Amino acid sequence: MAQPIRIALIPGDGVGGEVLAEALPCLEWARNRGRALETVTFPYGADHYLATGETLPDSAFTDLRDHFDAILFGAVGDPRVPDGRHAEEILLRLRRDLELTVNFRPCPPFLSVARTVDIEVFRENTEGSYCLQGSTEVGRAVDLSVHTEPAVRRLLQAAFARAASLGRPLTLAHKANVLKHGHGLWMRVFEELRAAHPEVNARGMHADALLCALVQDPTPFGLIAADNYLGDLISDLCAAFIGGMGVAPSISFAPHRPHRCAVLAEPVHGSAPDIAGQGLANPVGMLLSTALLFRYLGWEPEAAALETAVSDALAAGAKTRDLGGTLSTAAMGRAIRERFS
Ligand code: NAI
Ligand code: MG
Repeated sequence: MAQPIRIALIPGDGVGGEVLAEALPCLEWARNRGRALETVTFPYGADHYLATGETLPDSAFTDLRDHFDAILFGAVGDPRVPDGRHAEEILLRLRRDLELTVNFRPCPPFLSVARTVDIEVFRENTEGSYCLQGSTEVGRAVDLSVHTEPAVRRLLQAAFARAASLGRPLTLAHKANVLKHGHGLWMRVFEELRAAHPEVNARGMHADALLCALVQDPTPFGLIAADNYLGDLISDLCAAFIGGMGVAPSISFAPHRPHRCAVLAEPVHGSAPDIAGQGLANPVGMLLSTALLFRYLGWEPEAAALETAVSDALAAGAKTRDLGGTLSTAAMGRAIRERFS
């Protein structure tokens, strides 16, 4: 019999655990349909850090890297850790050291008003302005932004391959007019891949003009590729087209599969301390991220069934407070699971 897929669960902080709890019955449902999987829950987050001083111990990192196939992640960030140190050492480290270069953030069209927005953001996930290198002196602060050709190439190759397979336009967001070095590298690799993919309708756009165009009319856009910082901003803006932070899904993966564990699924949102602990969090972003993980694992029927259940539940009026409804996190999760075929 095939080895079970080993999925590490990291609830993290705030609403992370609340929304991840709604994904667990979906994993159980997949298992009952014959998918061989096992899960192990890891305690890393603010509570663990404050109690022990540990963020993500090296032993846990190597365990995740070498003995798991995937990570399902809630969110990290806690007002009791104002410098966000644990979040950096847990989530940013996992993204960087597992080389999860491609952060794929689709806006599922069934979530958008009148189903008119169908954008997928490909965000570089391991470097750029989030490389955590810099310094603060009196009156002067520096944040470095580091871009390396292998990561840029991996991200853009994934975006071009997807654009080619869907026959959809691809836009690179950049500011190469001022960020001559870093975004100059992005432009060079982009132009090379554009020449190699004449079938893809690809263009670069200055990110500021792109944001303006997106807000005026998102419908002509297909795929958008961007570095870490711009991709973060653009994908949160795109979340607004489909109902906000509570519904936006994401999955991060290492296309070159440098380790056994080469994928991490997590909602786009953070730990939402303003609503944590009140049962108000929308689990849809988490559940659609779980569907993306099912698809990544090759479990297409389960992925499609979960997405259809979310779509049907929303169409039937099941909504949490952020969408103007009254359902709790758990009730929303149930309303979705009830619709599993
Ligand atoms: P956030 O995404 O946590 O919250 C932004 C807004 O969206 C808040 O009004 C929140 O209530 C709402 N929201 C978020 N998730 C929701 C859900 N499931 N249902 C309904 N409403 C939801 O971003 P914010 O406030 O900037 O950051 C809070 C903390 O999360 C910070 O410590 C930040 O560093 C961290 N963070 C962590 C991320 C991660 O773990 N991937 C991503 C973004 C932020
Ligand atoms: Mg963000």
